[in-house]
Amino acid sequence: MDIKYLGHSAFEFNTNGKKILIDPFLVSVPDYKPENIYDIFVTHAHGDHLGSAIEISKSTGAPITAVYELANYCTKKWVKTNDIGLGARCDYSWGKVTAVPAFHSSSTPDGVYGGSPCGFVFEIEGQVIYHAGDTALNNEMKMIGEVYQPDIVMLPVGGKYTMDIEHAVIAAEWLGASEVIPMHYNTFDAISVDISDFERQIREIGKMPRVMKIGG
Ligand code: NI
Ligand code: MN
Repeated sequence: MDIKYLGHSAFEFNTNGKKILIDPFLVSVPDYKPENIYDIFVTHAHGDHLGSAIEISKSTGAPITAVYELANYCTKKWVKTNDIGLGARCDYSWGKVTAVPAFHSSSTPDGVYGGSPCGFVFEIEGQVIYHAGDTALNNEMKMIGEVYQPDIVMLPVGGKYTMDIEHAVIAAEWLGASEVIPMHYNTFDAISVDISDFERQIREIGKMPRVMKIGG
């Protein structure tokens, strides 16, 4: 499976030619063309995560998987959705996904309540990948580490609206993953960090930091 970073908290997974988008806020990749998209996942309703999900769902026909309230909002925009609750382990043609708790808030850019924010645990081609969404450091991560045993984790590190680097390092330990991908940083001033601090601290706990190039 290939993982492409699209900036902020947006990723594209490619599993045997089937592409999956997570939190497609695509301001950092203006030339990105969504093709062969099978599914879209949105962790919560904030504009920097919902992003272009509705437009891409309309143009590709890929359904949006999101928590019930946010999925309902998308349904009203005439796109296909898969409405889920926390803990739901859903089957897709390419793998399984479970929505897990995130500690944050969730409302759409036009002020509609978005239900509970979440993260997603992907099980694809025998690998377990956890995308944390926007969240504070929280005890659920110990559960996720124990129950799902992720190989790769994507953690917000920008602070201000989410946990920062220091807490992401603690999260990485609790989650037990060998590879840690930082996200939700340096997109705007309020979440600017020196990402070399993250790389150093993740190496210090014996894990592999994967600072991904936008578009790479
Ligand atoms: Ni948010
Ligand atoms: Mn955010």
